[in-house]
Amino acid sequence: MKYLKIMLLCVFPLLSVLGCKINAGDPLNIIPKPVSAKTFEGFFNITASTVIQYNFDIEKGALIIETLATHLSDYYKMESVAQQSKAGQSKNSVFLKLSDNKKIKKEGYKLKVNKNGVIVEASDLNGLFYGVQSLIQMMPAESGVREVVEIPFAVVEDYPRFAWRGLHLDVCRHFIPKEFIFKYLDFMAMHKMKTFHFHLTEDQGWRIEIKKYPLLTEVGSKRKETLIGSARTSKEYDGIPHEGFYTQDDIREIVKYAADRFITVVPEIEMPGHALAALASYPDLGCTGGPYEVATRWGIFHDVMCAGKESTFEFLQNVITEVLELFPSEYIHIGGDECPKTKWKECPLCQQRIADEGLKDEHELQSYFIQRMEKFLNSKGRILIGWDEILEGGLAPNAAVMSWRGEAGGIEAARQNHNVVMSPGTHCYLDHYQADPKTQPLAIGGFTPLDKIYAYEPVPDSLTVEEARYVMGAQGNVWTEYMKTSDHVEYMVYPRAAALAEVVWSPKAERDYNEFLNRLRVLAKRYDFYQLNYARVAFEQPVE
Ligand code: ACM
Ligand code: ZN
Repeated sequence: MKYLKIMLLCVFPLLSVLGCKINAGDPLNIIPKPVSAKTFEGFFNITASTVIQYNFDIEKGALIIETLATHLSDYYKMESVAQQSKAGQSKNSVFLKLSDNKKIKKEGYKLKVNKNGVIVEASDLNGLFYGVQSLIQMMPAESGVREVVEIPFAVVEDYPRFAWRGLHLDVCRHFIPKEFIFKYLDFMAMHKMKTFHFHLTEDQGWRIEIKKYPLLTEVGSKRKETLIGSARTSKEYDGIPHEGFYTQDDIREIVKYAADRFITVVPEIEMPGHALAALASYPDLGCTGGPYEVATRWGIFHDVMCAGKESTFEFLQNVITEVLELFPSEYIHIGGDECPKTKWKECPLCQQRIADEGLKDEHELQSYFIQRMEKFLNSKGRILIGWDEILEGGLAPNAAVMSWRGEAGGIEAARQNHNVVMSPGTHCYLDHYQADPKTQPLAIGGFTPLDKIYAYEPVPDSLTVEEARYVMGAQGNVWTEYMKTSDHVEYMVYPRAAALAEVVWSPKAERDYNEFLNRLRVLAKRYDFYQLNYARVAFEQPVE
């Protein structure tokens, strides 16, 4: 019966990749594509009697085992047993082996399937987790009750190209419930993404509880209504209050959930611009003292934090102190983008600061602002990262730059020997249209279809080999002005994040768009199973 089903599937060429057996030498349907994968004739059959063996501290790597066991039980209704193994691999097992094999690179793994079973070997737990993700993608993509889960004989050797494999989410323009953040992290883990950039404060909402400043959430997490339609043309509002924030317990849960999946959460606390929600809560933070209102439309606002008052820095240091207790991440994002200098030009305190510090202009005042925050972060053992505007007026000595207005900022920072994350609007903005705007829900603009993001190369040609080392990786950014629901977020993010995952993980020379699309069609079966509302438009384009 099983073979009949497989034969039937093979009749339909489009579906053949889903149901046909893999033959020796066939590629595996793993996204992101591994560095090296060889297949051989034959299959190892996982059955209910196959044991999951492991040799590491269960406290640290429980989720590695659980990911595999849960996949077998959810996807194929197959229950499995896990066993600590001191003696090494026994027959009929999947052995998750933490070893000191120096040949296996950081975050990398070696996966071997033969008649005895499966060995996933890695020199760190991240690598074992990624090996398990690959193993799962080597299993049949068709869900349903199975007594046998076939894994093709294979040897896979794999490791990431970049350490910063990032995905961002703006939870301020529209609040996104904690439960969806968990799902977002699950899919990041599936794609071996590593850095979750959590954009927590904005003009339109402050979304993280800060105990010392309760008004940030009592006032700043609420706006009275929201613009309907495009910020370019609309003057119409919905009259519906919008609110939401994460308590510190929520944040702890999110950070733990991410860490279990080897994802680092990098929080972003925006300063000195994009801060109207903070100003509405504590009007003294602004140059004029307000009153201010949490923004109800999208754009750039002239009211920003005052750089002349000492109290602004005291406030920010107190906020950051609480943030550092919640987020163990080495990098802390301080925004720094799109800060108009209008109010600073008119503010006596800001002008006094410029005079006192011998600064040339308001751009140097912004640089002064960021450098003060950097000193504070460095004193706590953390590294500041900001949008590429932090280059203006002079880069803080140890800062990393996230290049979004194209790649020029990233190139400049790398030339100054600063670490860089590439996320240019042209290729990495997942809030841009992915198909003909006439066929799509309203978006902010731009045009970044799947093939464009797939073709993105994070290391610009103009960098020398030495300078290129400063490129830590790339990141997809997800601004939610035009995404009211988590379903819509998923629609904008997937499958484009799968393309980005391959950009940041796989060897440049191995990337091939049409072959990626074939693998993506298989992965989409898993998206369907886990009810991901991905955009199908990419599949509707003819494959050459
Ligand atoms: C940005 O997109 N304003 C960083
Ligand atoms: Zn001021």
